[in-house]
Amino acid sequence: MSSGAVPTAAVAGSDLWARTFAALYDPLLWVGERAGMGARRRDLLGRARGRTVELGSGTGLNLGYYPHGLDELILTEPEAAMRTRLTRRLRRGRHRARVLDASAERLPFTDETVDTVVSTLVLCTVDDPDPVLREIERVLRPRGQLLFIEHVRSQSPRLALWQDRLAEPWRRFAEGCHCNRATLELIRACGLELDDVQETSWRRMPPIVRPLIMGAATKSDT
Ligand SMILES: C[S@@+](CC[C@H](N)C(=O)[O-])C[C@H]1O[C@@H](n2cnc3c(N)ncnc32)[C@H](O)[C@@H]1O
Repeated sequence: MSSGAVPTAAVAGSDLWARTFAALYDPLLWVGERAGMGARRRDLLGRARGRTVELGSGTGLNLGYYPHGLDELILTEPEAAMRTRLTRRLRRGRHRARVLDASAERLPFTDETVDTVVSTLVLCTVDDPDPVLREIERVLRPRGQLLFIEHVRSQSPRLALWQDRLAEPWRRFAEGCHCNRATLELIRACGLELDDVQETSWRRMPPIVRPLIMGAATKSDT
């Protein structure tokens, strides 16, 4: 793990598993990307503007979907094995971006200097989403936006029960991911204004991570 990295990820597995998970990440997500997640990423990231910071970029699955002409694109990723793959993907593509070793709890930006923060499948993985949401709010300019796609706790009591039952083995397998986290409620409570949210499904993925939210929240200008 890199410096400033995430305690949960450290306990969830060894360095060997972290490297293995990074290698398996794209193949594991491949079917879901083809079944609609790729299109959702495209729709969401088309809304990015200005100085854009992505949290936990992983292997860089979002990279091809950013519009050209952003003022700046900064991809943050605290996990070394993920970052290696991210850097490789960046070199192969045509996007200009910077890769930073940074965790979402401590972003290396001064207050109110970012127009867009992107979080796709990251608020499920961080140890505690509250400090991360506060950090997002801190770095966003007034009228700056958070764009998110996150899998969340199910509204079906039956599926939520299975998410609770399987939370621990899933967390170990998926490098710290909490499959039962009620992320939409946390975003609603964090002080950003929720502009729109679509509650949908991550098709062709295991049922415990299928309930999905996608949308945007804005920092007020007061
Ligand atoms: C499920 S992956 C999502 C990767 C990518 N965003 C995507 O949409 O495919 C979660 C990512 O969050 C990263 N991560 C874990 N803890 C983090 C933290 N505290 N701050 C930022 N990123 C973190 C992991 O290393 C991993 O790359």
